[in-house]
Amino acid sequence: MCGIVGYIGERNAVPVLLYGLQRLEYRGYDSAGIAVLEKEGNKIIVEKQVGKIKDLQEYLWNKKIEGNVGIAHTRWATHGPPTIENAHPHLSQKGTIAVVHNGIIENYLELKNQLQKKGYKFQSETDTEVIAHLIEDEYENNLLETILKITKKLEGAYAIGVISTYEPDKLIGLRKGSPLIVGIGKKENLIASDIPAVLEYTKDIIPLDDNEIAILSKDNVEILDFNGNKKEKKILHVNWDISIAEKGGFKHFMQKEIHEQPRTIADTITGFSSQDINKIFSNLENINRIIIVACGTSYHAGLVGKFWIEKYAKVPVEVDYASEFRYRDYIVDKNTLIFGISQSGETADTRFAMLDAKEKGAKTLALVNVVGSSLSRESDFVLYTYCGPEIGVAATKTFTAQLVVLYLFALKLAQFRKKISKDEFDKRYRELLHIPTSVEEILKKDEEIKNIAYDYTKATDFLFLARGLNYPIALEGALKLKEISYIHAEGYPAGEMKHGPIALIDENMPVVFVAPKDYLYEKTISNIQEVKARKGKIISVATSNDNVIKELSDKTIFIPKVSDEIYPLISVIPLQLLAYHIATFLGKDVDQPRNLAKTVTVE
Ligand code: M6R
Repeated sequence: MCGIVGYIGERNAVPVLLYGLQRLEYRGYDSAGIAVLEKEGNKIIVEKQVGKIKDLQEYLWNKKIEGNVGIAHTRWATHGPPTIENAHPHLSQKGTIAVVHNGIIENYLELKNQLQKKGYKFQSETDTEVIAHLIEDEYENNLLETILKITKKLEGAYAIGVISTYEPDKLIGLRKGSPLIVGIGKKENLIASDIPAVLEYTKDIIPLDDNEIAILSKDNVEILDFNGNKKEKKILHVNWDISIAEKGGFKHFMQKEIHEQPRTIADTITGFSSQDINKIFSNLENINRIIIVACGTSYHAGLVGKFWIEKYAKVPVEVDYASEFRYRDYIVDKNTLIFGISQSGETADTRFAMLDAKEKGAKTLALVNVVGSSLSRESDFVLYTYCGPEIGVAATKTFTAQLVVLYLFALKLAQFRKKISKDEFDKRYRELLHIPTSVEEILKKDEEIKNIAYDYTKATDFLFLARGLNYPIALEGALKLKEISYIHAEGYPAGEMKHGPIALIDENMPVVFVAPKDYLYEKTISNIQEVKARKGKIISVATSNDNVIKELSDKTIFIPKVSDEIYPLISVIPLQLLAYHIATFLGKDVDQPRNLAKTVTVE
């Protein structure tokens, strides 16, 4: 939640900061602002706007702000509504310190009271403003020492960027609990919440760990821990192409990312093969139980993963919402593997659940998309999806890539534990290699799905039903629709419908069935009949040439025939497109839906 970026170098900081903010807008978009040290270094200029980055950009258009050092912020409100006063950066009373912050300062009220007693006047309702006043209050003659001192006073999670007129040749970034990376350029250096914000200027990055502080000048970067000890950090070179973070002719990032799936699935299959999975398995030989923890779409991927791991590797798997898992008296030991799935690798609920279980003695494995993300560094082992940056708030390409990794993980584990033969592995692997082609075939139906979407734009509620392996796909279809179109949608196991949700069905209720010709096909047909008998409107995702379903349904979207076990990899694609087109017809901002943020770094 919230994106921060900072620049120090020889260019004018303003366009660099605005570029960075655009790349971070997925992290929050209710207000934004920049703070730049004027060339002479004795004044900090702060400009803010409510709304999106483009509003800030338009507002800054005619203002001649120049300076080589600056910080910027795009906000997802936690403390106080989205107003100019609450937007970051926040300035200290005398205007000597400017601060941007992502996270929550839990003891800010106590600190605010202390500062108010000393005469500090607050301009905002935010927790962040206390940081600016605190630094100013404590500053004697060394900015770094002052900030190190106040880290002892701040409770909560944060990534912070600081500039100051006291030491205008410095940009300081610090992290405890919220992500922050340092970008190493030539005669310029940057800080940011995420890699895409710096890609235009450098591909060499250092992800900060918790309790680390980076002191940046134009020519140098130094990293210390919060006790002031110097840290040697490895520079990571990222291969992401800037164009991956552009829309490339599509109307929205989400649309582009849906259409990228043939490539991202293929890249993830290849990427998985390049990871030494057997080395991970040999360290996990005694594991007799797996608990998958994740949130949102990643949780749905985990639900499919459970089917595969139990079916092939014969290891019992539980799947839990990370936010729930952490706060119950769960039971783990050294033979339990906690498998955290997270696109961003920064989701607070997932991170803290994993850290907690690790502390209790469990082994941890992370599946993430973002290289160098917190989860990837905090876990014992890590696997990656190979999607490049996902900008649309609604996860699409990373979901199918997570499924690919989970499927290969299950098969490899099964082979490693001698539950399946090499021949069986090879057969299933070869079949997986055809999935990108099947996805391409479905994507060709984009126009057809768009027409179906048009007929349902007036619906106020949707049900998504499926059985077995495709039940998590029904959940995912419902999540996609509600988060970008704001239409109420529920995913349910089709067999559970008769135990309650059937009461909702009438002639106004569209019911989306994911009903491929798999081992539960006949059962699903019965459920479709039950909806039809109550005059529900049926939209089906069915296997090509299935005329039985076509007859029963108001609309049918055909998908190619594949093995029963891997339908989830393709059956989700029509649901992504359906949600996308309904939301677009309704004029919703699909890339940045209201109230949501791509990376949820608060609990
Ligand atoms: O980065 P993560 O995979 O940990 O994110 C988890 C959820 O916040 C995320 O999947 C969210 O539900 C998306 N908006 C789904 O489209």
